[in-house]
Amino acid sequence: MTKNYSFIRADIAQISAYTPPAGGEINHSLDHLDTNESPYDLPTSIKGKLAWLYQQQMETNRYPDGSHLVIKKAIAQYVNQSANLDGEISHQNISVGNGSDELIRSVLIATCLGGEGSILVANPTFSMYAILARTLGIPVINVQRLNTDFSLDLVAASKAIEQTKNPPVRVVFLVHPNSPTGNCLTTAELDWLRNLSEDILVVIDEAYFEFSQTSLVTELVKHPNWLIFRTFSKAFRLASHRVGYAIANPDIIAVLEKIRLPYNLPGFSYIAALLALQQRDLLLNSVEETLQEREKLWQVLSQCSDLQVCPSQANFLYLRLKNASAEQLAQITQDLKTQGTLIRHTGGGLRITIGTPAENARTLERFEKIGLLG
Ligand SMILES: Cc1ncc(COP(=O)(O)O)c(C=O)c1O
Repeated sequence: MTKNYSFIRADIAQISAYTPPAGGEINHSLDHLDTNESPYDLPTSIKGKLAWLYQQQMETNRYPDGSHLVIKKAIAQYVNQSANLDGEISHQNISVGNGSDELIRSVLIATCLGGEGSILVANPTFSMYAILARTLGIPVINVQRLNTDFSLDLVAASKAIEQTKNPPVRVVFLVHPNSPTGNCLTTAELDWLRNLSEDILVVIDEAYFEFSQTSLVTELVKHPNWLIFRTFSKAFRLASHRVGYAIANPDIIAVLEKIRLPYNLPGFSYIAALLALQQRDLLLNSVEETLQEREKLWQVLSQCSDLQVCPSQANFLYLRLKNASAEQLAQITQDLKTQGTLIRHTGGGLRITIGTPAENARTLERFEKIGLLG
């Protein structure tokens, strides 16, 4: 048992350390369909270019560019292009983090730390908002999503905001499309967000934007209290480099810039993300295949009477099993692992990342073997 030192905050004892699925170890004999990464490594040509840049241009004895100016400009250009904007987003609207996880923490520090605010999350959702909030002693208000379409229960959410006084809700975190359920924000949810008090920061996490191709970036101008997260960890195939970014009005960005560590983005990750943006047509080529594969998998799984398969706008599918207990779901996850496929048991269901065509074919074979298809 761990010793409790009196100089450590008492509430930390109640928190478990984040354990990466599968212990974080990459076992190449398994299909890793549990963390929503791209199944494709960078193409060799791009890795070669990166290696060349590392060898010829990077000075490892020097700190990386702590201003992030070049990468912010490149991100702004990508954001504008992908939303058909005419340069409305500039480098002043961008802050870059060591993964979006770092930016989540910066947002929490900027808004709620020191008993100033609570956060509201819509469960099931990405777990890091609540995990990071708890490490900072920030209260988390959990509102359930509706079982019908996994949209937020807006009546319950409004009530929770109204009733949470000490400290009040300062941030609402929503994912568009949500993980693990795969659904985008509905018109009703969007209207609700548009009408929220400007005293509340609305965080819209678009980690899966490249798959959904739906973004709220064009609305940022109208809503100074909105902030969007994106990441290079999914469609851009750079999970190992840890690069995420926030898009918001320059005042909010300036606050995040105050909070981040001066050299939060390692030099190698910086050049990798920059190169990925320059080569985006090549890298994002695989998105189309992922969407086709998702459709194929969906078609097969949704034929099964015991499975409720949710329509997904992202690079994963979410299933619920009729009348299955948490123990049964854990057992299925374990059985699939024994067969060689890692999936995620979360939020009362199973989340399966779309892999390569070969991995997806094996997923179906293994579902059949353990008696889930039928
Ligand atoms: C909704 C969402 N946001 C953020 C992340 C993490 O992004 P990053 O790798 O940039 O920290 C994930 C990863 O699974 C995610 O699902």
